[in-house]
Amino acid sequence: MRFDVLTIFPAFFEGFLSYGIVRRACQRRQVEIGIHNLRDWTYDRHQVVDDRPYGGEDGMVLKPEPIFRAVEALTHRQSNPSVVLLTPQGRCFDQTVAQRLSRQSQVVLICGRYEGVDERVAEHVATEEISIGDYVLSGGEPAAMVVMDAVIRLLPDVLGNPTSAQKESFQTGRLDYPVYTRPPVYRGHAVPAELLTGNHAEIELWRRRAALRKTLRHRPDLLTDQTRLDEIDRRLLTELLHPSPPAGQPMTCHSSS
Ligand code: 6GU
Repeated sequence: MRFDVLTIFPAFFEGFLSYGIVRRACQRRQVEIGIHNLRDWTYDRHQVVDDRPYGGEDGMVLKPEPIFRAVEALTHRQSNPSVVLLTPQGRCFDQTVAQRLSRQSQVVLICGRYEGVDERVAEHVATEEISIGDYVLSGGEPAAMVVMDAVIRLLPDVLGNPTSAQKESFQTGRLDYPVYTRPPVYRGHAVPAELLTGNHAEIELWRRRAALRKTLRHRPDLLTDQTRLDEIDRRLLTELLHPSPPAGQPMTCHSSS
């Protein structure tokens, strides 16, 4: 697949393209990424990309013309490209959106800047508006990197192990399990004993329980739809929510006199 990013800060993406999975995926031609300077589609001497908002207010607004022209140029031989405007007013990005974008052949990412983008871009150029969360960034550039990273790791053969993308959080309906490495005791803090047993069934159960406990604590909203969990997780969650009394010590509701 191909990404084309429209930005007034192309250098922002240098580090992103130079390291890790993204770099490797580009080298292997599993993804192509074009970073484009919005100023290249201005025709005036000062390459002005922004202007004052009609109706007053502070701040500057990205002008429509360079964005319209750039998107036309970048998509001219594409039948139905995805054109995404990155803005805090967009629909929230999540794993489901990442999966949908990963099936597109071309995605154009327009990085919003300043106090906004002329609304005609959202109405007539973008096919959708995406936000990466409920907070305000000074520009869409970090959001573009978030979207590309999440999508690229879903592309075929990008991750070494084909099942790793599937087992991750948000595909399983709960958070990932906690992990540990050596040393077995550090500053008095021991690695959970179950992980050192070598018993794969026991390790798997411990991991599922630990993942569900953490999800209950940090993201209980993920567990409201239990149909996203598999059968084993559902059973373990029920046990965590309604612990049965330890054997030999039956629960009573009257105090002994
Ligand atoms: Cl996509 N852009 C900006 N400027 N702020 C954001 C965002 C995007 N997503 C969350 N906050």
